[in-house]
Amino acid sequence: MVIAGIVAGGSGTRMGGNIPKQFYELNGKPVLIYTAERFLNHGGINAVIIGINPEWEEYARELINKHLPCCKNIFLTNGGSDRNETVSLIIRFAQRVLGCAENDVILTHDAVRPFVTSRIISDCIEAMSSCDICTAVIPETDTVVVSKDGGYAESFPDRSSVFRVQTPQALRIGSFNSVYETLSANEKKLATDVCRLYSSNGYNVKLIDGDITNIKLTYPHDYSFAEFLAKQ
Ligand code: CTP
Repeated sequence: MVIAGIVAGGSGTRMGGNIPKQFYELNGKPVLIYTAERFLNHGGINAVIIGINPEWEEYARELINKHLPCCKNIFLTNGGSDRNETVSLIIRFAQRVLGCAENDVILTHDAVRPFVTSRIISDCIEAMSSCDICTAVIPETDTVVVSKDGGYAESFPDRSSVFRVQTPQALRIGSFNSVYETLSANEKKLATDVCRLYSSNGYNVKLIDGDITNIKLTYPHDYSFAEFLAKQ
């Protein structure tokens, strides 16, 4: 089985506004619905599980009933207090409710990246036949500088070897359970990106070509760009 795990448990504090950014509308359709459709319309995905803050579950359910009324392979479950915990709860749901096995693959994806392409999803699924974890990335286009104090430059890494991490990030349920679920509560809190965690556990993280349109809505100006892309 290949599952899409859409993490939608955040509150969008940097975006501001009265509702979390995954519910903002682009051309009359909520961001979360755009994102879910990208996976639902992909032939390689068996089910979509969305991790959502319980306070917004009813709201999200109504949106799904309105925009995707006949859809049988979309599920909602509780999100967690951080992104990794939301992934963890989605995986537990996949095992408990959908009967997913250790070898089954999950493509974790930010709810607020509504323009993920079918090509990226296909490439992630295909890559998982020969790797344990992969992530979409795009090449860095700005010069990057390392500085621990933020005041003076320490070094300038070669830009051609620097990439920006996007999602989806694909992994197997069994490996996630052995890498993440064995951490202490404190280690879980400190763990940032799942790929970084896998890398520090000795896994080779495969890089998949992302896309510059696969933007993440973080700040208000991202929303303006998303509106522009939605109209194209
Ligand atoms: N996310 C999640 N559960 C959390 C926190 C974040 O599922 N407890 C999800 C967000 O909903 C989003 C993705 O992780 O789809 C990327 O996180 P980010 O852009 O940081 O979203 P927010 O946490 O909502 O934003 P902010 O940090 O501005 O509050």
